[in-house]
Order: sequence, then C-alpha cells, then structure tokens
Amino acid sequence: VLFVSCGLLLCQERIVGGYAPVPHSIRYIVSIQTTERQHVCGGSLINKYWVITAAHCNIGLDRMMIVAGDYSLTIYEGTEQEILPQHLVPHPEYNKTTNNNDIMLIKVRKLSYVSVALLPRQGAPIAEGRMCRVSGWGYTSPNTGLIPATLRTVKLPIVSARNCNSSESFDGGITDNMICAGYSTGGKDACKGDSGGPLVCEGRVYGVVSWGKGCADAQFPGVYTAVSKYRMWIDDTIFNYYSKCKKD
Ligand SMILES: *[C@@H]1O[C@H](CO)[C@@H](O)[C@H](O)[C@H]1NC(C)=O
Ligand SMILES: *[C@@H]1O[C@H](CO)[C@@H](O)[C@H](O)[C@H]1NC(C)=O
Repeated sequence: VLFVSCGLLLCQERIVGGYAPVPHSIRYIVSIQTTERQHVCGGSLINKYWVITAAHCNIGLDRMMIVAGDYSLTIYEGTEQEILPQHLVPHPEYNKTTNNNDIMLIKVRKLSYVSVALLPRQGAPIAEGRMCRVSGWGYTSPNTGLIPATLRTVKLPIVSARNCNSSESFDGGITDNMICAGYSTGGKDACKGDSGGPLVCEGRVYGVVSWGKGCADAQFPGVYTAVSKYRMWIDDTIFNYYSKCKKD
C-alpha cells in the first residue's frame, strides 16, 4: 500500500541514502502505529490537536494510535507521548487508484508538549531544484515485518512536474496536487514506511510522503501530496470540526 512496487532489494533500507538526524531535532514528526505498537506511517503535528498525514495511512480509528516525541521506536527515551486519535478526516476525494488527494487530518487529544510544523500558504509554489528534507522511520525489511529503528532523514531537490510526469517517468500519473522530489541519479529517497511523513522545504511542510515506484530509482522520484493545494481544506476542516462541536 505504501509504495507500489518496493522490491525487496530496493526497500530494505529506511529513507534511502539518508542519515540519522540529531535525536529529537525534528520534534513535530509523529509515528502512526497500530494499537499493537507497530509503526505504520509518519505524520506531522500542525498544532496541539491535529496531525497531518497521507490518506492511505488510514488504518481505522479503532486500530490507530499516535506516538509523539519519539526518536528510537525501540528504546524508551522518556519523551514519548502516546495518544489516541479522536477523529479521522481523510480527504473526501482521495482516490486509491490515482493516489490523488492523498492527505488526511487526525484530531488527537491534547499533547502536553509539542513542537509544530509550519504549513505553506494556499497555492504557494515550490521551485524545481529547491532542497527539501524528508524524514521517517519505516521498515527495515518488508519480509520479516517491521523492525523499529531510529528516525532517518534525507535531503532531496524538487523535480519539476514536467519531468516527473514525462513518458520516461510517471507518464501522466502526476496531478496538480502532487510534487516530486529526488535526484536524477537516484540513490536517495523516501521508502516504504515513510508514508505520511513530512517533506520540509523552506521550513514548511510542502509535501506528505505519498507514493512512488521502487525507491531511489533514477527514473522515478518520490511523489508527495502537495500540501499547499490543501491549505484551505486543512483550515476549513479544523474550523468546521469546532463549529460542529459547539452546535452539538
Ligand atoms: C479514481 O480515478 C479514476 C481515474 O480518473 C476514476 O476512473 C475513478 O472513478 C476514480 N475513483 C473514485 C473513487 O473517485
Ligand atoms: C500529467 O499528464 C497528464 C496526462 O497528460 C495530465 O492530465 C496531467 O494534468 C499532467 N500533470 C501535470 C501536473 O501537469
């Protein structure tokens, strides 16, 4: 579900070609887990009560929990906050076939301490070649299940929609709601299990890890949900949640 054709050989690494960031330096990232504590996806805290992630990370409210303040998923660091989600809002027009509108908001109980990620304004463009950073946990092996690990991060340039959508690459599969990032030589990428996590450019979450083909393939950059296309939807969804609560 996470990356369409992550072959065993390509996908044994988390964040391909990346490095371990300074522990707890990326504090808005959360791990979305099953209630059995299996890491499923990444996400970003956008305020004390809301997480942004990918719609394809929707494993259902009853099965999901959110862990904030983590670095190593195996070692207890004392900074972890486990919180249950209260409400899921996958984008109503999310299309599983085309991966269009692959974005979801999760309302959580109040966190005691948080660091939040900034979002771009509605429609804000991000230029080809701009360097961004994607972070995540993810699988070490799709075969043996999940082996929790420490957070990884990698810096990648934005690839133009024209190149990413060309017949040599995703051949028409890129919509206006997607952005691509990666090196034309390959070698660095997000991969299976990094889904839902943040692609941060100019200090803002411009992308949510969405899909791809293989990982770190020279021909196929990683594809991200373009968060700037959803800034109004995000603000409206949060506003409507509270106005609905007041009426009830
Ligand atoms: C998803 O997109 C495809 C291709 O545009 C379309 O045929 C299909 O009806 C869409 N599915 C949904 C659930 O909207
Ligand atoms: C990608 O190509 C398809 C097919 O030609 C087109 O419908 C779509 O709008 C293109 N995407 C972008 C972002 O230009």
